Amino acid sequence: MTKPRILVTGGTGYIGSHTVVELQQAGYPVVIIDNLSNSNREVLDGIERITGTRPDFVEGDCTDIATLRQLFADYSDIKGIINFAASKAVGESVEKPLMYYRNNLDTLINLLDLMAPNGVEGIVFSSSCTVYGEPDINPVTENTPIKKATSPYGNTKQISEDIITDFIHSGAPVKSVILRYFNPVGAHPSSEIGELPNGVPNNLVPYLTQTAMGIRKELSVFGDDYDTPDGSCIRDFIDVVDLAKAHVTAIGRMLSGKSESAIEIFNLGTGRGVSVLELIDAFESATGVKVPHRIAPRRAGDIEKVWADPTRANTILGWKADTPIADTMLNAWHWQQRLRQRGIM
Ligand code: WQD
Repeated sequence: MTKPRILVTGGTGYIGSHTVVELQQAGYPVVIIDNLSNSNREVLDGIERITGTRPDFVEGDCTDIATLRQLFADYSDIKGIINFAASKAVGESVEKPLMYYRNNLDTLINLLDLMAPNGVEGIVFSSSCTVYGEPDINPVTENTPIKKATSPYGNTKQISEDIITDFIHSGAPVKSVILRYFNPVGAHPSSEIGELPNGVPNNLVPYLTQTAMGIRKELSVFGDDYDTPDGSCIRDFIDVVDLAKAHVTAIGRMLSGKSESAIEIFNLGTGRGVSVLELIDAFESATGVKVPHRIAPRRAGDIEKVWADPTRANTILGWKADTPIADTMLNAWHWQQRLRQRGIM
């Protein structure tokens, strides 16, 4: 039985591209739409080198409903959507809130509006643990209270979840799985795709690997005076391939009618809290490469500690993030080395 076609918005991005690889390897035909605002076409070459199949690609902006109408007309066999297309830099969202609200919310509203008229049955939404803010208790479950967002970016994720809920509760004949990511890190073991942020990385691991490569002089550890064992912040760092696999499981569950309700929410994390300093140690031990770093002042807006209770995803989705952090760090380092070999950085 052939698998239904999946539309992956933002599919040339970091998590999107890894998910396209896993979808193709699970037998799903894929079409990507991406405006290439934070990625490039070469990612399609990397996906093809891994899977042997070049995904269909439409360069376009999901905030333009005419573009999406045309896409659904051209691909009338789309049965599911995985929506990654969104701006996602916390700091940038504080400087450009309207761009974040317009891009992230118009994209989602357009997709939801076009699903039923085009026979699309379900949408997987890329959400984030940022909806929990600074949790009072860790690990965090799906029932942990949502706290007021601390950035426009985080607010777009909270509002998006509300839009999906209200739309489906209005009787729309579609289903949704909302996936709340913790901290995605690493790269594909083939080193053909990985994280490639524009400019100076905001996130820890790309900054760490660029420092290890000598591109950055020194990694600043933003604070070691937090209420944690070693004073640095704690996160739940989840391997990007494990994360991608969860999307394949979720879309398969939804489109095969196994969902227990029209909307399901899952935390996607390892269940293990790892501190910033512990992650640096894990990288150095796994690769043998030293990372020059120093303690710097705290970064405004940082959460002190947050990690997942992934029990629901483990038991209901039947999915588990089990890549050892050492392997994830090695994959991240090999990707950085590949970028150097290809003269990219
Ligand atoms: C992790 C830890 C920093 C850089 C955000 C979003 C989340 C998701 C991932 C999009 C923090 C410390 C970082 C550095 C450091 N966004 N750090 N030096 O802030 O947990 O999560 O990005 O998908 O929704 O909220 O990720 O990697 O920026 O920071 O010490 O140069 O590393 O202080 O404690 P964050 P991060």
